[in-house]
Amino acid sequence: MKIFIDTANVEEIREAASLGVLDGVTTNPTLLSKEQGSFRDILKQICEIVDGPVSAEVVASDAEGMVAEARELSAIHSNIVIKVPMSKEGMKAVHRLKQEGIRCNMTLVFSPNQALLAAKAGAAFVSPFVGRLDDISHIGMEIVDQIVEIFSIYDIETQVIVASIRNPLHVIDAALTGADAATIPFKVIEQMVKHPLTTIGIERFLADWQKVRQ
Ligand code: G3P
Repeated sequence: MKIFIDTANVEEIREAASLGVLDGVTTNPTLLSKEQGSFRDILKQICEIVDGPVSAEVVASDAEGMVAEARELSAIHSNIVIKVPMSKEGMKAVHRLKQEGIRCNMTLVFSPNQALLAAKAGAAFVSPFVGRLDDISHIGMEIVDQIVEIFSIYDIETQVIVASIRNPLHVIDAALTGADAATIPFKVIEQMVKHPLTTIGIERFLADWQKVRQ
């Protein structure tokens, strides 16, 4: 499973990239609103750090506006993938952008039907949001399972990015579905690295090494 980081924070991206595990980045308007500076500069910096898809979201409400924004965003760097919210206007935009060779990530996907339509419209990626479904007492990972199965039955090439990941168990469950990628907040990547027995083990080895005669 590919590991993407779900942040627009350049320091976090640099740190995760240095671990050698980063295959891509997803941003959204909320994540970019937390950072200082122009969003174009931030996206450019991210693309220079990570050699993989970097999702940048459009905010227009109609297909025409989305396509215009997408053209501007994709001019920033060849790594940019256009994140388009799931809607009829979004599908029209994805369909047109596919014809122009611009890759899209259909976001805010909460059902297998939405994922199927996004794929048919031409999305290169779909992003089912598991955490937000869990928040309203639906098991988010169930839709990921269904999407992965449907895409496999019909040999659909659209990649599934499990999004709205909130904890390390979400990552394990995402990997078990066979999803192509999980986009993970930096804090959760750090949680994945750690294990209390590893920490205790390192401390014990270091303490014992002090007793070794040089
Ligand atoms: O990038 C989209 C998604 O991962 C957002 O997650 O935690 O705001 O539901 P969250």
